[in-house]
Amino acid sequence: MLNKIKNLNKELDRINLNSASELEFFRIKFLGKKGILNSLFKEFKKIDNNEKRNIGLSLNIFKKKIKNLILKFKILKKKKIIIDDLEIDDLTKPGKKKNLGSRHPISIIKHRIINLFNKIGFQICEGPEIEYDWYNFTALNFPYYHPAREMQDTFFIKKSNKLLRTHTSSVQIRYLEKNKPPIRIISPGRVYRNEKISAYSHCMFHQIEGLYLDKKVSFQDLKSTINFFIKNFFGKSITRFRPSYFPFTEPSAELDILWNNKWLEIIGCGMVDPIVLKNVNIDPDIYSGFAFGMGIERITLMIYKINDIRYFFENDLRFLKQFKKEF
Ligand code: PHE
Repeated sequence: MLNKIKNLNKELDRINLNSASELEFFRIKFLGKKGILNSLFKEFKKIDNNEKRNIGLSLNIFKKKIKNLILKFKILKKKKIIIDDLEIDDLTKPGKKKNLGSRHPISIIKHRIINLFNKIGFQICEGPEIEYDWYNFTALNFPYYHPAREMQDTFFIKKSNKLLRTHTSSVQIRYLEKNKPPIRIISPGRVYRNEKISAYSHCMFHQIEGLYLDKKVSFQDLKSTINFFIKNFFGKSITRFRPSYFPFTEPSAELDILWNNKWLEIIGCGMVDPIVLKNVNIDPDIYSGFAFGMGIERITLMIYKINDIRYFFENDLRFLKQFKKEF
């Protein structure tokens, strides 16, 4: 064993540590769990007692030598005599290549929508995609027996009361539980539904939710806010509000836009149902508000004249490269 240590000592004398990667390699080889030092100590336990003193001494010197090498590296580095190769190049710097790619079309449209609502005082607020039944359905006035749940079938997490959220309306409840009016929020995010994947529908897509709550908010405020958005986003266009139904708004409406001679439904909206406000301890006799929700995919398809929603999620570079950079 003494010979072995002698040879290892010679090896140590030849070692020069010049970079953090060399240091790490050295550390693992000599001091690692399965490293040389540990195996020597294991061997040491088994030797005769009368040899222990001698071998123990040289073993300890060997250990000190290893630690000294590491110390020397640290001192030289501090004095900048060693300039670490890892530090010369800042690995977090952006690449040097010029053509860095572009934003995803969904992301471009999402940001355009958010920017417009930011201008009129709506702030972004996000919520989780794996959601409790309470936030996605029950608090929004879809009791468990309610047939409206059928319209938004989703993926449930077994043995729990959690599911993949079917809409961003869940964020309304999360925000209302923690904040008092006046409230103006906009909430973008992914949502999920148990739907067959086709050119027009997908089991995952994006929505943007809006919520406005204050004293004396009326349906006229809802209309003018949505008209502001439509005018600034689509330019001059013909729209219509059509009566509709959502459990959490009363009255409810759908906004259609005339696009290539067809009416396209793009926004669901309505006045927040008093039942929803009661569920989050807000007095509906004092406060009223409106909410709206839109699908980002549908709007992106319209703007870019894309005819199949599946392109968005296939990550085919030939498709993605067509969108110019926009931040
Ligand atoms: N959450 C509704 C949906 O996904 C849209 C909506 C949002 C309707 C807000 C009214 C108010 O269909």
